Amino acid sequence: MPVTVVVGSQWGDEGKAKVIDHLAAAHSHVVRFQGGHNAGHTVVVGDQKYALQLIPSGVLYEHVTPVIANGVVVDLPTLFDEIDRLEARGVSCSRLKISSQAQLIFPWHQAADAIAEAGRGENKIGTTLKGIGPAYADKARRVGIRAGETLDKAKFLAKVKARAAEEQVVLTALGGDVLDVDAIVNQFDAYADRLRPYIVDTVGLLHDALESNCEVLLEGAQATFLDIDHGTYPFVTSSNPTAGGASTGTGIGPRLINRVVGIAKAYCTRVGSGPFPTEALDNYGDAMVEIGREFGTVTGRRRRPGWLDLVMLRHAVRLNSLTEWAITKLDVLDTFDVIKVCVAYKVNGKEISGYPDTIDALAEVEPVYVEIPGWKRSLAGVTRESDLPPSAIALIKLIEEHTNIPVTLVGTGAGRDDLLVRE
Ligand code: GDP
Ligand code: IMO
Ligand code: MG
Repeated sequence: MPVTVVVGSQWGDEGKAKVIDHLAAAHSHVVRFQGGHNAGHTVVVGDQKYALQLIPSGVLYEHVTPVIANGVVVDLPTLFDEIDRLEARGVSCSRLKISSQAQLIFPWHQAADAIAEAGRGENKIGTTLKGIGPAYADKARRVGIRAGETLDKAKFLAKVKARAAEEQVVLTALGGDVLDVDAIVNQFDAYADRLRPYIVDTVGLLHDALESNCEVLLEGAQATFLDIDHGTYPFVTSSNPTAGGASTGTGIGPRLINRVVGIAKAYCTRVGSGPFPTEALDNYGDAMVEIGREFGTVTGRRRRPGWLDLVMLRHAVRLNSLTEWAITKLDVLDTFDVIKVCVAYKVNGKEISGYPDTIDALAEVEPVYVEIPGWKRSLAGVTRESDLPPSAIALIKLIEEHTNIPVTLVGTGAGRDDLLVRE
């Protein structure tokens, strides 16, 4: 009963959804284990593009049961809107299961996110303003409300009303908006009815499936360096996107996980603030953004571009016990004269080992680059390694050499079939 985990290995938007869509063909369950609608996961099938926020990226396959597990924070209006939009396009969401233990996001979380960001001034994190941080904070403070609580509607609505009143005091003190408590209660009254059919004990569901030899795929959102413990704190999200989060976020213990696929772009991007040693503030960076269409799926923000950083990827291998790489967006570099890859960090002219454990230390490092000549031809349609140009193979080998795990998948375009599977 093998379990596969897919995690982002940089700062998000690595192309996780595309790889998950590929792997989902051979899995029965695809499970989101953390994060919420801050995620923007894009799957392209033919001329159809699906931008998913909460619904697991396996939903396009009829044989897949999509599961939103206990570690996720769920924004109900976004969830229902996503279901409606998918169903209008002929994608059934009737198989969707949502954990009774998943936390719900409420309007006061979004209000608190906006106030906190405004208050940070120049030090703002650049959050997606979806209320993710405040919702996880409420979970940690043990005042959050779980999806399963909607099943006892009178009790649920009384709790929503009480929490809204408490939060109003805080928001008022901070100069925030006045919540329309009655409107919120009415809204969640209707949401509770709509949510009911999807709620299950996903821990039991997943273990029963595993005991029947089903193949389960756990879908990471965000990424290793946005992890609240291991990322570039405080410029991180409020969950654990690293592989350990897949266990706590689903109730599947680590011994059952036998494959951990790290997703990395052939370059790197980050949305929002925080240190970025290999950031490319030049024409190469502009080309990455333009050719790679590096604008956020959720917020539309321009992503900050930079070169591939193998020091980061080595650290991601350690943090996640990665077993292999999927390297995406190789085709974005098709026209580049030269491709820079960071292979080490120096501080005061001396190479350092390991990964800096604070953002101040990370801001000090000077990347050491090797340069690979560009292949200067289109990789479109390449699905066999023998058709890759030698310098593209050199880049793949460099990643393997510096991280000690194999590259098994290579993305050569946005479409479902634009993928090279290596033996
Ligand atoms: P995720 O958040 O990690 O799932 O990634 P996003 O969907 O936010 O961003 C990745 C973007 O790159 C999407 O627009 C994908 O369609 C696209 N994409 C994924 N893999 C490739 C690839 O190999 N080549 C190209 N050109 N685009 C890709
Ligand atoms: P996917 O799953 C890229 C970033 C935000 C901000 C920080 C905290 O599509 O890779 P939050 O709203 O989570 O409190 O914001 O994390 N961020 C992402 N960046 N991809 C994502 O998701 C992200 N989700 C959050 O930009 O810097
Ligand atoms: Mg994304």
